[in-house]
Amino acid sequence: MQTRQLGYSDLQLTVVGLGTWAIGGGGWIYGWGPQDDADSIAAIQRALDLGINWIDTAAVYGAGHSEEVVSRAITGRRHEVIVATKGGRILEPGQEQPFARLKADSLRREVEASLRRLRVEAIDLYQIHWPDPDEDIEEGWGAVAELIREGKVRYGGVSNFSVAQLKRIQPIHPVVSLQPPYSMLRRGIEDELLDYCAANNIGVIAYSPMQAGLLTGKFSRERLATRPDDDWRPRNEHFQEPQLSLNLELVEKLRPMAARHGRNVAQLAIAWVLRRPEITAAIVGARHPAQIEETAPAGDWQLSAAELAEIDNLLAWREQRLQES
Ligand SMILES: NC(=O)c1ccc[n+]([C@@H]2O[C@H](COP(=O)([O-])OP(=O)(O)OC[C@H]3O[C@@H](n4cnc5c(N)ncnc54)[C@H](OP(=O)(O)O)[C@@H]3O)[C@@H](O)[C@H]2O)c1
Repeated sequence: MQTRQLGYSDLQLTVVGLGTWAIGGGGWIYGWGPQDDADSIAAIQRALDLGINWIDTAAVYGAGHSEEVVSRAITGRRHEVIVATKGGRILEPGQEQPFARLKADSLRREVEASLRRLRVEAIDLYQIHWPDPDEDIEEGWGAVAELIREGKVRYGGVSNFSVAQLKRIQPIHPVVSLQPPYSMLRRGIEDELLDYCAANNIGVIAYSPMQAGLLTGKFSRERLATRPDDDWRPRNEHFQEPQLSLNLELVEKLRPMAARHGRNVAQLAIAWVLRRPEITAAIVGARHPAQIEETAPAGDWQLSAAELAEIDNLLAWREQRLQES
């Protein structure tokens, strides 16, 4: 699979990275319902077998559980994998609602806890998960810079930051990467973030490229109706009307295009995200090995100009219908 350099770092990331939010399991407000750890470990190991060389996790995913599962899965294979995690959103064990904290002492404690759970000597990429509370982003970023100087973190990035917030922290320490949402259904970063990141040598690792499973060609109204209470998706606007019908209709319109290449809609959604040169990589979630087997080949699919134009038309159609609804 092709690789791209992450910002100014010496990290060469495969264009498909593995996301492990769902692997954190259920039982909290942003859970994905019950998750089998054996499936998770098999999915992570399969991703590495397929050539994926980096994993994104976060302390908040299942109150540290995702990091622990990642650690178990990469035992003996640490040298094969770039580990990225995030902090600043804290979920206490047994709680359902996380809280935000970017004070320096708190982030320092979080990094120590992530190092222990991941059982690594240094975190390759440590990211501030959300710019929240906004007034503390300079303090939090200063703490990340210090942890880099101490060797506990190799590179520092941020997630969900705006251009204005990036500009505030850049003088403290150069940001190596931004982790924003980006999919056919969520194109906000095209307005100014992609330009700003390219101009400032900030890598972009796009999350939810399949819009949390909606753009896989396998999601359905029936599947949505049977999701457990601790799956966050039924509460999300993309999975609710008027968007849901339009999104499912869009998938049906994309299906023949993917089929022409003997591929699936999930790969099409990921390849579309990767078409932009400002994007370093897409973070692709998987809950069992078959899912990553189906999505990883997106990393080698370059869409033609004609196909991109066809998709543009479909997205314009969806946008128009959404405005009218
Ligand atoms: N920084 C942030 O704030 C933030 C926010 C969101 C995500 N992220 C990161 O980005 C990663 C990816 O985003 P995401 O997990 O939200 O969304 P995604 O990658 O767009 O979708 C992943 C989900 O799609 C379903 N899926 C995956 N492969 C499939 C296949 N082959 N066929 C059918 N369904 C399939 C699975 O859910 P089901 O099987 O349950 O349908 C899976 O959990 C996360 O794991 C996390 O690391 C970061």
